[in-house]
Amino acid sequence: MKKFTCVQDIGNLKSALAEAFEIKNDRFKYVEMGRNKTLMMIFFNSSLRTRLSTHKAAMNLGMNVMVLDINQGAWKLETERGVIMDGDKPEHILEAIPVMGCYCDIIGVRSFARFEDREYDYQEVIINQFIQYSGRPVFSMEAATRHPLQSFADLITIEEYKKKPRPKVVLSWAPHPRPLPQAVPNSFAEWMNATDYEFVITHPEGYELAPEFVGNARVEYDQMKAFEGADFIYAKNWAAYSGDTYGQILSKDRDWTVSDRQMAVTNQAYFMHCLPVRRNMIVTDEVIESQQSIVIPEAANREISATVVLKRLLEGLE
Ligand code: CP
Repeated sequence: MKKFTCVQDIGNLKSALAEAFEIKNDRFKYVEMGRNKTLMMIFFNSSLRTRLSTHKAAMNLGMNVMVLDINQGAWKLETERGVIMDGDKPEHILEAIPVMGCYCDIIGVRSFARFEDREYDYQEVIINQFIQYSGRPVFSMEAATRHPLQSFADLITIEEYKKKPRPKVVLSWAPHPRPLPQAVPNSFAEWMNATDYEFVITHPEGYELAPEFVGNARVEYDQMKAFEGADFIYAKNWAAYSGDTYGQILSKDRDWTVSDRQMAVTNQAYFMHCLPVRRNMIVTDEVIESQQSIVIPEAANREISATVVLKRLLEGLE
């Protein structure tokens, strides 16, 4: 594998899942593979799970790890080409990226949507510059439009907990005080659409995701109706995508907060969320603390998805 930014990059899901469970069974099985290889993790945005699970995955494979927080201790980076650099940014990303590439074998990048310009965000300018100019295999640690390491971990988790071959999985919008990117819901939808699960997306009108991510999913504006008979509830907030509402909060309706009321109509569904989660905005204390909540095993599987991805990138090195 030469890069990992979307579901297509992982190829056949059945073999990716088989590899995930092989590694889960013996996570140090390939500890010799990364000897004398260096992972560089570049963070333009904060992280807890991605930072720790990817670092652990690299250690599972025997790799060395370097971490750079762009906003803490690095030069401020100019990211636009053609800018006269007379402001507060002393380094251009077009020099910084190939320099970073000199010091490592594989690069992971986290760079969120900025919500200034939808076209700019959806072109994935930052991670694509890393792919183009670093000379190294690059993987997403959450980019503007997708979070594939999370979605792969979500898929592993559903496969572990499902009680029937084709579960009903519901992605539900939930309220949040700040506008959040669409990367997690986009990516979750993309991965669910690549399975044969029954997949439903529910959100208030105005929160439609980009059509290329919705795919063949059923969109249901009535949250209670969507939850009926569900086997998995995946809650997430996202800001509006459509037209001139891009990046805006259109609703903070706490009727959409996942509570015992909605969970009661499900098929004893498991509750999932990528974390971090705002309790009693996204989900009530009762639901996230219930037996049906699998947010911790879901987070634990981030180590597994990252180990599979790094292993495949190591295998692809020339
Ligand atoms: N789910 C997730 O990516 O968590 P972090 O933002 O803490 O990395």
